[in-house]
Amino acid sequence: MIYEEHLRAAESAAWSMATIPWSAIDRDAARAEPEILASLRDAALIEGYLPTFAPRLMLLLWDDIDATAILSLELYEGLKHYTALRKYLDFVGEEASRVSEQALVDAREGTSGITYRRDEIITYLTHFMCSELFAAHFFRRLGERTREPVLAELLGYMSRDELRHSAGAGALLKKRIAANSQVADEILAAAENFRHYGSDVVDIPLAEENDFEAIMAMNRKIRQLCGLAPTEHLKEELTNG
Ligand SMILES: [Fe+2]
Ligand SMILES: [Fe+2]
Repeated sequence: MIYEEHLRAAESAAWSMATIPWSAIDRDAARAEPEILASLRDAALIEGYLPTFAPRLMLLLWDDIDATAILSLELYEGLKHYTALRKYLDFVGEEASRVSEQALVDAREGTSGITYRRDEIITYLTHFMCSELFAAHFFRRLGERTREPVLAELLGYMSRDELRHSAGAGALLKKRIAANSQVADEILAAAENFRHYGSDVVDIPLAEENDFEAIMAMNRKIRQLCGLAPTEHLKEELTNG
């Protein structure tokens, strides 16, 4: 069962909020990196969006037991990420980058008009899988850039979590391809029109959306699932014209 395998992976990779050395945060080092703090704030708002984003998907996927289980892991760990990022920003104490409850409520309120259609489930799942992969690369890159050691440690854990989340979504899509091979075409089309679900709540800069490494990782992931990567598919479409 997909859930059992991913639950086992989540449990064995689990890190604890209690073992993060919060009091060892080098505030001066953190405050010297305002761009990183701003990125963490955006990431916190995206993670804090999960309690409304994940249920929206779950309700649509109610008859796919594995999907609801994988999304429940995402919900649980996403909320953990939100809490850790918020706590980190509180410790650093830079007012501009703090995430107030009201800020999160406002961000969620901006998504209240979004409705999902059941016949586009494959698109949402593909975008979810790719968003998690982009998040993994985003956290890894931030972790390499920062000079603040506690943040580097935290981002390392979170980046690995996101890779697992992406793999979970991949397993759900693989199961759907096994049941109906035409799903692969839908996945390819969705990957070509990738949109990060985080852009429901924050502006994701184009430079990040176009992150080369993340795009290559997405290509590999889609090729594993569909036998063809989005870039190859586009080329094929152009030549067949
Ligand atoms: Fe996350
Ligand atoms: Fe995630």
